[in-house]
Amino acid sequence: MERTFVMIKPDGVKRGLIGPIITRFEQKGFHLAAMKLMRIDRALAERHYGEHQDRPFFGELVDFLTSGQVCAMVWEGQNAVANTRAIIGATNPVQASPGTIRADFALDIASNIVHGSDSPESAQREIALFFDGAPALETMYRMTGDGA
Ligand code: PPS
Repeated sequence: MERTFVMIKPDGVKRGLIGPIITRFEQKGFHLAAMKLMRIDRALAERHYGEHQDRPFFGELVDFLTSGQVCAMVWEGQNAVANTRAIIGATNPVQASPGTIRADFALDIASNIVHGSDSPESAQREIALFFDGAPALETMYRMTGDGA
């Protein structure tokens, strides 16, 4: 059993894609362990994408992530990291295989709908960042604990 972090980015939330995206992970057989709808500040976005801070699009990426609500989720199941990355599809929607979230819902790399951890180590770090140390949240659902 493995856990991974998935985040629906502001474009996905604004376009009403939370439901369809959750459905895909559930249909595959994964269990939604935690979920919260939240607005993230620049400090959290910069920490989350810290490894990309020297890349030319870093500022644009942080602007985008802080432009609206995101839906942060923890999914668990067999090979959760690799399997969710496969469901999400290639970073650039143009290269994503048909049937993946990015191929079916996104047009360009700068607004590619959803993020998924790229390794079990990243998943652990990102889950801690968003679910243990995150600032004020607007809505929170704990699917495995005290009810939604
Ligand atoms: S990956 O999935 O980490 O291997 O992809 P990578 O190419 O390294 O990109 C890291 C994250 O940066 C986002 N990205 C961009 N944002 C805006 N503009 C441009 N040009 C761009 N290129 C890459 C990409 O979506 C990755 O974000 P996440 O949220 O991890 O998918």
